[in-house]
Amino acid sequence: MHAGWYEADIERVIATEEQIREKTAELAAQVAADYREVERLLLVCVLKGAIMFTADFARELAKRGVPLELEFMAASSYGQGTTSSGVVRVLKDLDREVVGRHVLVVEDIVDTGLTLSWLVKYLTSQGAASVEVVTLFRKPAAVRSAPPLKYVGFDIPSEFVVGYGLDYAERYREVPFVGVLKPEIYTRPPS
Ligand code: IMP
Repeated sequence: MHAGWYEADIERVIATEEQIREKTAELAAQVAADYREVERLLLVCVLKGAIMFTADFARELAKRGVPLELEFMAASSYGQGTTSSGVVRVLKDLDREVVGRHVLVVEDIVDTGLTLSWLVKYLTSQGAASVEVVTLFRKPAAVRSAPPLKYVGFDIPSEFVVGYGLDYAERYREVPFVGVLKPEIYTRPPS
């Protein structure tokens, strides 16, 4: 193993560390302005993919004087093969009530947004005062089926990407940038 072992597996970089850092700061500035009247914003990180973005985004908000709390949720949608059915199973629920809270759901990437739609409805039904979404990446399909995405980092093509929390078979989450894998990675048997 050597530094940057993953670079040989990546075909093309979609967002560099620097671009992610700049975009995260930009999104945090917008959120800080929009929520300046809110006493304590509640960030809901959608596990596992959004961990990196949530960690960096929360710190950018802190630098802009936004007090917040962090909650984590994990959900998986029952699907047939690769298609998502929209029926959702909660793997990890919130630890606290969201009644009366202003909630911002933090997502890594929105493709169809089926699970996210369910999550937004769920948080609203739990009595949140408001529920909005910030996502670092958005794919074209999100335009049709996703819930409204108030804050979007990058619009990217409909390609499978990894890094900065996003995985392929649980790998590549720790890669500091986001990129497209070489096709042979998908066809190689797992090591
Ligand atoms: P959606 O419900 O179709 O919007 O996608 C749900 C989840 O699939 C996302 O939150 C990601 O965890 C995962 N996902 C979608 N596209 C990608 C990708 O290109 N790379 C890695 N994970 C992805």
